[in-house]
Amino acid sequence: MRELFFKGTPQLETERLILRKLKLQDADDIFEYAADKEVTRYLTWETHKSVEDARKFINFILDKYKKDEAGEWGIVLKETGKLIGSIGMPWHDKKNKRAEIGFVLSRKYWGQGIMPEAVNRVLQFAFAEMGLNRIECCHALHNEKSGRVMQKVGMSFEGIAREKILAKNKFWDVKQYAILRSDWERLRKTPSFTCYN
Ligand SMILES: CC(C)(COP(=O)(O)OP(=O)(O)OC[C@H]1O[C@@H](n2cnc3c(N)ncnc32)[C@H](O)[C@@H]1OP(=O)(O)O)[C@@H](O)C(=O)NCCC(=O)NCCS
Repeated sequence: MRELFFKGTPQLETERLILRKLKLQDADDIFEYAADKEVTRYLTWETHKSVEDARKFINFILDKYKKDEAGEWGIVLKETGKLIGSIGMPWHDKKNKRAEIGFVLSRKYWGQGIMPEAVNRVLQFAFAEMGLNRIECCHALHNEKSGRVMQKVGMSFEGIAREKILAKNKFWDVKQYAILRSDWERLRKTPSFTCYN
């Protein structure tokens, strides 16, 4: 049997969160945050206009799960069972053991350290279970709150990648961050580093 790159996208857990595969029943929860222009302002995808846009996204991911091409998790708050965002590796490079992380969270939950908690768990999965060596992440120049998440999980700023992304009819300069497996192993042994899980 061929080795599954995303290991079947298993359910992951942190203190406050369950990270699990998306399902069609999540459409309303996804639409709730994906229809918010403030949330999608710096994202490459368009603000959802109807719940059908959320269904299309979920179906796209369900199809990828079947082919083991989707490291995409819904972020569920344990306390309420509500799906409040998603995190995934939309791009990967098997040969060089690299992947890129992307994430989004409902505005109501910003500022509570939820995304750093989710990213830390996904990094653990990527390095310890998938055997990757480098995880990258980038954000549109002015989306500094996303940069804060990258800094909090120990990623290093590597520079500005000019016109890296073509989205919403223009090329975007982005701030490029990454963390290596060796950085991650060193950080985990640093007592002052908050690993969240
Ligand atoms: C970026 C994002 C995932 C951060 O998640 P989070 O769980 O709020 O992360 P944190 O709690 O660590 O907060 C990160 C920063 O956001 C900013 N922030 C916090 N609460 C905020 C609020 N209510 N409104 C605006 N910004 C806020 C702060 O600068 C904070 O940094 P600080 O802790 O040093 O003050 C979230 O803001 C989001 O989903 N944004 C829209 C989608 C997006 O931009 N995704 C990333 C694409 S690259």
